[in-house]
Amino acid sequence: MATIGAMSDSTLDPRGRARRTLLVTGAAAVAAWAGRAPLLAMRDVSGPDPFGMGVASGDPWADSVVLWTRLAPQPFAEDGFGGMPARDVRVRWEVAVDERFTRVVRRGEVTARPSSAHTVHVEAGGLSPGREYFYRFEAMGHRSRTGRTRTAPARGTAPSTRLGVVSCSRYETGYFTAYKHLAAERPDLVLHLGDYIYEYQGNPKTPVARPFDQGEIVTLTDYRRRHALYRTDPDLQELHATAPFAVVWDDHELDNNWAGDVAEDGQTREQLLTRRAASFQAYHEAMPLRRAARPAGPSARLYRELAWGDLASIYMLDTRQYRDDQPCGDGNRVECDERLRPSRTMLGREQEAWLRARAVASRARWDVLGQQVFFGELWRPLPDGRYAAPMDSWNGYVAARGRVLDMFARPDRNFVVLTGDVHRHYAGTLHAGDPDTPAVGAEFVTTSVTSSGDGTDDMTSIAPILARNPALKYSADKRGYLVADVTADTWTTHYRVVSYVTRPGAPVETRRSFVVEAGRPGLVQVG
Ligand SMILES: [Fe+2]
Repeated sequence: MATIGAMSDSTLDPRGRARRTLLVTGAAAVAAWAGRAPLLAMRDVSGPDPFGMGVASGDPWADSVVLWTRLAPQPFAEDGFGGMPARDVRVRWEVAVDERFTRVVRRGEVTARPSSAHTVHVEAGGLSPGREYFYRFEAMGHRSRTGRTRTAPARGTAPSTRLGVVSCSRYETGYFTAYKHLAAERPDLVLHLGDYIYEYQGNPKTPVARPFDQGEIVTLTDYRRRHALYRTDPDLQELHATAPFAVVWDDHELDNNWAGDVAEDGQTREQLLTRRAASFQAYHEAMPLRRAARPAGPSARLYRELAWGDLASIYMLDTRQYRDDQPCGDGNRVECDERLRPSRTMLGREQEAWLRARAVASRARWDVLGQQVFFGELWRPLPDGRYAAPMDSWNGYVAARGRVLDMFARPDRNFVVLTGDVHRHYAGTLHAGDPDTPAVGAEFVTTSVTSSGDGTDDMTSIAPILARNPALKYSADKRGYLVADVTADTWTTHYRVVSYVTRPGAPVETRRSFVVEAGRPGLVQVG
C-alpha cells in the first residue's frame, strides 16, 4: 500500500470551529480509499470551502440513516447553484462509531449533480440499531464538519428516548436560539413539524431582527436560495449536526395556507402546481430525506412511519397535499356547517387508509402523530366576545379528526399527537366526545422557534382560551421548543421557552412539564 502524504492542517473558520481543508491525490488517494487508513488526508488547499451549509442526517431506521450535505461555496449565488460549476462532483463520506473516526464502519462515494443543486443524500446502511454514529464528507479538497446521528432502536427493545419537537422558524423575525439550546440537550431525534422556511418577501429596510433582500419565492431558484439562507444559520447547523431530523412541511415551505391544489389567493391551479413542484424539489434537496420522498413534479410522498423499536411508532403526516380546501372561506368561524361534513378529508383517502393500516398493525408502546396543524378542539375569542374555530386546523375537518381518533383511541393504545403551526405552546387532552368524557390521548403543541417575535408573558389573550377549552391545560405565547423524554412507562413533555429572539443569546427555561402514564390517558402536571 502506497504511503499517504502529509497529514491535514487544522485551521479555524470564521465561527471558530476547527476545520480541516484537505487534498487527496493520485495513488495515495486510491490507497487511502481502499485501505483502513483514515480516508481523508493530505495538505491544505486554497479553494473555497463548499461545506458552508453544514451537514445533516435524518429518517433513522434501525439499520440505516440519511446523511446530507450540499456543495455550495457561495450559498446565495443568484442562479441558485451555490457558486458551483455545472458539472458532476464526486463526494466521499464516512461513518464512524467515534468522533475521531478511528473506527470507521462505513464509507462510500457519491456524485453531487447540478440537477439537484449539488446536494448529497446518502442512505448509509449496514448500521447497528440504537447507537450513536459520527459522519463527515469530503469534496473539492475540503472536509466537512463532523455530524452526530443515531439509528433507531431494534424491534423488541424500548430504550428511553429523548425527542426534540420544533416548528415555525422565520428567519427575519429572530435568532434561532431555540435550535441551539435544543442541540445542547442532545436529543435522539428531532421532529420538525413545518414552516422550516417562510416564503414571504424579505424586509431589507424594515426594522426586523435579520433583514434580507429577496422577494416572495416562487421559482426553483428562489426556493433554493431561501433554503440556503436558512441553512447558513449557525444554530440551525448546530442542531442538524447534533441529531437526526424527521421533517414534514406545513404551508410556508410553499405558500401560506395552501390546501391540495388550491392556493391561498391570486393564483390559478396551474400556477400553484408549478410552484408546488419547485417548492417540493427544493425541499427534498435541502432536507435529509430518503429517496422515497423525492417528488415527481408537483407530487411527493412525504408521509411515512418511523419505527422506534417497540417504544414508539411515529407517523409523520402530510396535512397539506391531499386536504380539501378550508371550509367557509378559511379563517376563524363562529358557525360553519361545512366543517362538519363527513366526506371532508384532511389526509386524503390513501394516506388515511395507510394510517389506519399502520394503527391496526402497531405493537409499539406509543403511537405518535408528527403533524402540522392543531388537532384537538379549539375555540378562540373574537373581539366581539364570541368564540370561533380555526378552519385551517383539524377543526375545519371534524369528521376526519374523528376517524383518526377512532384508529388510536383504544384501551391498548397510548396516543400522542405532536403539533406545530400556531406559534404558541399548548398542552391538552384528546377526547372522542365532549371534553368531559374520558381522555383518549394527549396533544402537545410546540410554539415557534422565532415566528411572531419575542412573545409575551401577559396571559390576557390566553386566559379566555383556556377558560373556553377545558381540554387545554396550558398555553404560553413565547418562543421555544418541546423536549419529550419517552420511556415504556411514561411520556414526559417539557415546555422550553427562550426569553427573546429579536436579539441573539437568550437563555432557556422550562415553563411546564406534563406526564402521560402508559395505560392512563390524561395529563399530569409535574413541573
Ligand atoms: Fe408558522
